[in-house]
Amino acid sequence: MIKICFVCLGNICRSPMALFVMKNLVKEQGLEQEIVIESRGTDAEVGCDMHPSSKRMLDQYHIPYKKHVSTQLKSSDYEEFDYFIGMDDYNIHDMIKILKKDDKVYKLLDFTRESKDIADPWYTNNFEITYNEIDKGCRGLLEFLMSLSKNE
Ligand code: 4NP
Repeated sequence: MIKICFVCLGNICRSPMALFVMKNLVKEQGLEQEIVIESRGTDAEVGCDMHPSSKRMLDQYHIPYKKHVSTQLKSSDYEEFDYFIGMDDYNIHDMIKILKKDDKVYKLLDFTRESKDIADPWYTNNFEITYNEIDKGCRGLLEFLMSLSKNE
């Protein structure tokens, strides 16, 4: 089993969106038992639901989601997961600071041809661009994970 933790700043907009997009892709491949996914924020206001505009994007693309509860990333999470996937360089910096190690830390678009940051829609207010980048990153991540199991 592979355990993935998506991480953004607030755990309200991007990482919950990535969580449900990835869960949907994993389900399409029948890999729900093999790939377990959670999400956290480096500076989360704990206990909040997903941003309504993130929900709107998921609705638009017919991606199912459940009630979300924002959760803070903690150093004790390090042992729990195999991959911590951040959205931008700022996240990566904070994730390494919290986890105190960098060997499981990646940026989502590292799994695509263009390893750039995923813009924070909390500030840009453009959830469509963020959704498209997250979808691209999750497809690249899934392809990477599936290639690992093929090489085993
Ligand atoms: P996220 O977006 O990191 O994609 O969840 C943000 C959500 C909340 C805040 C910042 C970014 N905030 O400052 O409360």
